[in-house]
Amino acid sequence: MIRDGDVAVIRIDEPPVNAATEAVCAGLAAALDAFAADGTSRAAVILCGGAGFVAGADIKAMDAVPDAPPLPDLIDRIEASEKPIIAAIHGAALGGGLELALACHGRIASADARFGLPEVKLGLIPGAGGTQRLPRLAGVAITIDLAVDGREIDAAAALAVGLIDAIAEGPLRDAAIAHARTLTGRTPRRTRDLPMPADGHALVDAAAPYVAKKARGRRAPSLALDAIRFGLDHPFDEALVNERAVSIAALRSEESRALRHLFLAERRVRRDAAKARVRTITTVGVIGLGTMGRGIVQALAAAGVETIAVARSEASLGKAQGAIDKAWAKLDDAQRTALAQRVRWSSDLSALADADLVIESIGEAMADKAALFAALGDIARPGAILASNTSYLDVDALADASGRAADVAGLHFFNPANVMRLVEVVAGAATAPDVVASLMGFARRIGKIAILSGVCDGFVVNRLLAKRSREAYFLLEEGASPYAVDRVIAGFGFPLGPFALGDLAGIDVQRAARIARADRLSPREHRADFVDQLFAAGRLGRRAGKGWYAYGEDGKPAPDPEIDSLVAAHGAHHGITQRMIGEAEIRDRLILAMVNEGAKLIDEGIVAGPHAIDIALVHGIGFPAHLGGPMWWADRQGLGDVATTVSRFAAEQGDAYWRPAEGLISRAATNRNFY
Ligand code: COA
Repeated sequence: MIRDGDVAVIRIDEPPVNAATEAVCAGLAAALDAFAADGTSRAAVILCGGAGFVAGADIKAMDAVPDAPPLPDLIDRIEASEKPIIAAIHGAALGGGLELALACHGRIASADARFGLPEVKLGLIPGAGGTQRLPRLAGVAITIDLAVDGREIDAAAALAVGLIDAIAEGPLRDAAIAHARTLTGRTPRRTRDLPMPADGHALVDAAAPYVAKKARGRRAPSLALDAIRFGLDHPFDEALVNERAVSIAALRSEESRALRHLFLAERRVRRDAAKARVRTITTVGVIGLGTMGRGIVQALAAAGVETIAVARSEASLGKAQGAIDKAWAKLDDAQRTALAQRVRWSSDLSALADADLVIESIGEAMADKAALFAALGDIARPGAILASNTSYLDVDALADASGRAADVAGLHFFNPANVMRLVEVVAGAATAPDVVASLMGFARRIGKIAILSGVCDGFVVNRLLAKRSREAYFLLEEGASPYAVDRVIAGFGFPLGPFALGDLAGIDVQRAARIARADRLSPREHRADFVDQLFAAGRLGRRAGKGWYAYGEDGKPAPDPEIDSLVAAHGAHHGITQRMIGEAEIRDRLILAMVNEGAKLIDEGIVAGPHAIDIALVHGIGFPAHLGGPMWWADRQGLGDVATTVSRFAAEQGDAYWRPAEGLISRAATNRNFY
């Protein structure tokens, strides 16, 4: 604590994000003592050093949180202070940071401030009064937005709802001190003494159904909503006790452990390759403007990157331009103009000579790609990075074709590329370390989460997904209904089951991929030719109105008896005895196929560790985040049981499909986990 005249200034400085660590709490407690005892200071301002206000409780210490953590009590003490205390907020005030600010007697923010209660994203609920003070100060609607939906608001929005008293015009510290002086000599207004808004019940009741619908196995959002509701019906102190108890119980839940694991894993995958020097990437070329290429162009433009979009004919260039114009039509004029100005269009490969990074996104044919990389090797300026968006082709072969292998890597986006956050950076045998680091950094710059993979068939996501799909088709051969399979997978927490997903991607697209890989399919995979059968029947997926499902006028999928007949006929035709298959077997066959393959990726050194696989699957295909990703989930199941089941499947289904990963067997045998 230092003094500025009659105002005490309490400064929190805990890099990198001012988390409320044990040290911060101890320091704050001492400062509050000193302030209370100090006869000279008549008010206090709490402010932070660094990039933002307090970013919440210390996520790294949450496995060992005591039943009565210090922060909530400190926050209550702030509110109870006889002398006014003002929060001066810059940057992010999140979780416990926002709760601290809510208990202060005034809040001044800089224009860059943002506010959130992201606890739900970690399987938690606010535990220091957030669900009780925020509704009193700013209303129940905004509390639901922040505490239940995990949204953030900026300073202007916070001012509009009464969360803050003012946005500082000049320096934040001065504005907060000036505001503090206006409050001296009076009993401070305590947030807890404000009434709960009268419209609370109606808003909570209205939110309940959609919160339940969106839950997909997560509990935290409805726990947060319940805590708000409890506060509407009970006195403040009782509601605070309830909130704390629920928050501590949530902290100890599997859901929270899994989500906290993912939070830290995401930051760890960033570090996997971030140490090398990086090349400057200002202008990016995209060659090949099909669905993926267009999505990439949109993602780049939205991230403010100067983009050169190249198609190899005027016709495809025009088509791509038209499609992107249509996608941007919903935006207002200013936004559209800004985006459009960032993209230069050309049907001439030599336009890519200016690019610092070229992303190749033409069709998945090796000969075409190799020829293109040979051309790019000459056209691109020395030092430019050449990246391929291939989903499964050999990046090393493309590197060889370019004549400058060190500059070449994979940069694999997911469809739709402007929406999906995952990007796989694929390092080839000869890829220079600074190319890898540059791509990892670049992906982050454009708002993506990048994981680093080595070269293999399908990299991380598609390699695991291919094993899941294979099991799904085998299950059909054995008599499972695709609808039962989808139900199990959706029940597990995936947004879509494999067959609904197949309809979305397009049966034609999957058939093309199947043909491209025909030489790598086993006889049994050839026999499980459901995709070919659907294609022949004109059931091309959602766009065609029917695929695995029949789609009504409203686009809603419905099971189709024709598919049941097709599955039965397939069994009869090939003399396969079909049987009833239980939910547990469906789940294990599909999920453990991914776990076992993930273990092989680790064995082979394709990824740095299980964290890369978990992040990839959660962000690449919507593996349920509250289960932590396949490798985390397997640990929770117990690797002994997992290894036993995989070995049983190997005995039943054959080693070709279920050979247990060495790393799985050895971990199970020695009682170790992936983490
Ligand atoms: N507790 C402990 N460490 C935290 C933290 C927290 N609440 N929030 C962030 N960190 C750490 C990160 O782990 C990272 O360190 P690492 O690289 O050693 O793992 C470092 O701070 C920087 O975080 P990062 O997210 O990479 O920086 P950013 O500038 O992109 O974002 C925040 C900063 C604060 C916006 C972001 O970290 C965030 O949203 N944090 C979570 C806040 C939260 O959920 N609080 C409620 C907790 S109940």
